[in-house]
Amino acid sequence: MTIFVWVFCVIAGLIIVVMGIGVLCGGAPFVPTRREWIDEALKLAQVGKNDVLVDLGSGNGEVLRMAIKHGAKRAVGYEINPLLACWSRVRLKKLGEKIEIRSKDFFRTNLPNDTTVIYLFQVDKVLKKIPEFLLQQKAHLKAAKLRVIVFGFKIPDREVIRESNGMRLYEF
Ligand SMILES: C[S@@+](CC[C@H](N)C(=O)[O-])C[C@H]1O[C@@H](n2cnc3c(N)ncnc32)[C@H](O)[C@@H]1O
Repeated sequence: MTIFVWVFCVIAGLIIVVMGIGVLCGGAPFVPTRREWIDEALKLAQVGKNDVLVDLGSGNGEVLRMAIKHGAKRAVGYEINPLLACWSRVRLKKLGEKIEIRSKDFFRTNLPNDTTVIYLFQVDKVLKKIPEFLLQQKAHLKAAKLRVIVFGFKIPDREVIRESNGMRLYEF
């Protein structure tokens, strides 16, 4: 085999690992939300200086970076794929303590108690479990109301508060 075939195999393997770990763990693969859509989501939820945004499956961390750009005081990402968690930490290091990335399955953790906004780009199987998860989490959260933005998919049996180009806003 030539060196080119080896390089191709290594790159293809890396892409499969980066995209696929979320799926092996029962969640969505890594597919980043486009910047203009993230912008739309942050406007839909009116993210501002009193907000702490949490991205449940934070991928490359771009949603977190843009939340800070929109004025959020802090942004926290949970990412099950350690490669993506590591990469996003490196990319966002310059934003210092405003951003934190936790390399964990979000279903097996407690959200920060100052969470006000949640972003989700996950598959139906995951979204089905979200109401129960958030209602449990609310027991220790300070905010009386959580704004939850869901991209592309729907939380079953839950009223949509506002909607724009595939972004849906819910309240819990
Ligand atoms: C569709 S991508 C969205 C990435 C990012 N939020 C964005 O919108 O650009 C979903 C991400 O969730 C991660 N993921 C899937 N299940 C997870 C879980 N239970 N806990 C933490 N991360 C998870 C995947 O590894 C993947 O990076």
